Amino acid sequence: MSLRKRADNDMWISPSLLSADFARLAEQIALVEAGGADLLHLDVMDGHFVPNLTFGPGVVKNIRAVSKLPFDVHLMISDPLKYAPMFAKAGADNITFHAECCASEMKAMAKQIRELGVSVGVSINPETPAEVIFEVLEEVDLVLVMSVHPGFGGQKFKPEVLKKVEQLHSRMRADQWLQIDGGIDTHTIGKAAEAGANCFVAGMAVFGAEDPAKAIGDMKEIIGQDSKS
Ligand code: DX5
Ligand code: ZN
Repeated sequence: MSLRKRADNDMWISPSLLSADFARLAEQIALVEAGGADLLHLDVMDGHFVPNLTFGPGVVKNIRAVSKLPFDVHLMISDPLKYAPMFAKAGADNITFHAECCASEMKAMAKQIRELGVSVGVSINPETPAEVIFEVLEEVDLVLVMSVHPGFGGQKFKPEVLKKVEQLHSRMRADQWLQIDGGIDTHTIGKAAEAGANCFVAGMAVFGAEDPAKAIGDMKEIIGQDSKS
């Protein structure tokens, strides 16, 4: 499967499973699914591209069986092409790779990932200029601007990345997703939306909240989207 194209005024909330209780994954996913999540963000880390480790395709395959949400796989790994086929097979709908791991071959990488039958995203770290991905904008369905250094949940939002969101927004089509990831909560989501972001990843703000469904609803209200719940 692949993500559907963005329709006018669509704004999506994508809870990041990184901050969920891994002993109760099915239950935690059901909670955000019922609470109005639009897609599920799955952070894959290899201990090389980022200084942390998470999970691989086996976990994605298992949770695919218990959720209808589209799966948005964020590959924070040094060799995306080696592992993308396994994640596509396991049930990913979108696969995002980082520009920093493969700057010279981004177009080819986007094409090869798309051939796996999924939609494709490209991501940039906070210190990477937006210009680096201008050449590949036409080939992707989603652009992910990191608003923290990748690797860990619960970090503070970096407002300086909003300039890049504005820059990218002005060059992207309305049917493409402009995602922001890191430190998104009720205090920061409004600013990110104003800058042009339309897909918001939130880890701690959702799974760290007492009531994850309410946390999703509160953020949706700020960006003017009706909660599905
Ligand atoms: C960080 C990950 C994020 C993370 C966001 O490397 O890419 O998706 O889960 O977590 P919060 O929303 O807590 O900053
Ligand atoms: Zn992420």
